[in-house]
Amino acid sequence: MILNGYETANKIKEELKKEIECLKQKEIYPKLVVFQVGDNEASNIYIRNKQKACESVGIIFELVHYKESITQQELENAIEKKNQDELVHGILVQSPLPKHINELQVFETILPSKDVDGFTSYNIGKLWCHETCLLSCTPKGIIRILKEYNIPMEGKHVVIIGRSNIVGKPLALLFLEENATVTILHSKSKDIASISKQADILVSAVGKPNFVTKDMVKEKAVVIDVGINRVENKVVGDVDFEHVSPICSYITPVPKGVGPMTIAMILENVVIASKNK
Ligand SMILES: NC(=O)c1ccc[n+]([C@@H]2O[C@H](COP(=O)([O-])OP(=O)(O)OC[C@H]3O[C@@H](n4cnc5c(N)ncnc54)[C@H](OP(=O)(O)O)[C@@H]3O)[C@@H](O)[C@H]2O)c1
Repeated sequence: MILNGYETANKIKEELKKEIECLKQKEIYPKLVVFQVGDNEASNIYIRNKQKACESVGIIFELVHYKESITQQELENAIEKKNQDELVHGILVQSPLPKHINELQVFETILPSKDVDGFTSYNIGKLWCHETCLLSCTPKGIIRILKEYNIPMEGKHVVIIGRSNIVGKPLALLFLEENATVTILHSKSKDIASISKQADILVSAVGKPNFVTKDMVKEKAVVIDVGINRVENKVVGDVDFEHVSPICSYITPVPKGVGPMTIAMILENVVIASKNK
């Protein structure tokens, strides 16, 4: 069965629209500011999608765009200004940033209460301590879609391929919160197929097309494909969908799987940040 991220995200957006209407009645106008440096083609598409999503639910969207030549200090100063702007509730820095910019340091500049990507060490630390905070959007979206489809996580063996700060690591923590047993694999892991085949829930966040093949998946497993790869002008995930989908119980497609859920969670985080204020 397909886990339809597109439909689930639309449902969440409808609920957010109502919440935003209520906020507006209290004269709170949720606003997201996105910082972009340079003109990465994929970033342009991601930002346009975020803008459309914001506008569809009534969130004010502002893009602050700089040329590649901006310095670390100039970028941090610009973020600091938005930290202090009472009318801004969420701040997001689109990666990748140019090589001369220290990305982690830039994320740290964002006020944790406006960090709608959940990338600051403050919010990551809160997550480690089981405290509510602005959660990283892709991991949050994955847990949400599993819940929307009533897929149990407690006691399940979850195998996550990929250990990035934005997907694999925070997702492992969220699954632990759901009482799952979690294994994380990465490029130095040995014998990946034999471990992935033990997964009740298998997540791939690698970024390589056809990385997950049928022989790596247990029958009736739930498969979450986070990958976004461009192959001959088509967007595909990490999973060999054609051969894996017939043997698993649930699977997220690419596109219309994890991607729209991530965007819905950004919107939700902006609403949470607006309410917290
Ligand atoms: N749908 C969405 O909303 C969404 C959101 C974020 C990302 N993505 C997509 O998800 C993918 C991963 O993103 P990311 O930012 O997490 O990427 P990343 O930072 O490049 O991390 C990739 C991870 O995959 C691991 N890996 C690479 N080759 C491997 C191999 N042969 N065997 C096992 N593990 C391997 C790496 O291991 P090492 O740590 O050892 O290098 C790393 O942990 C990308 O395609 C990205 O575009 C999608």
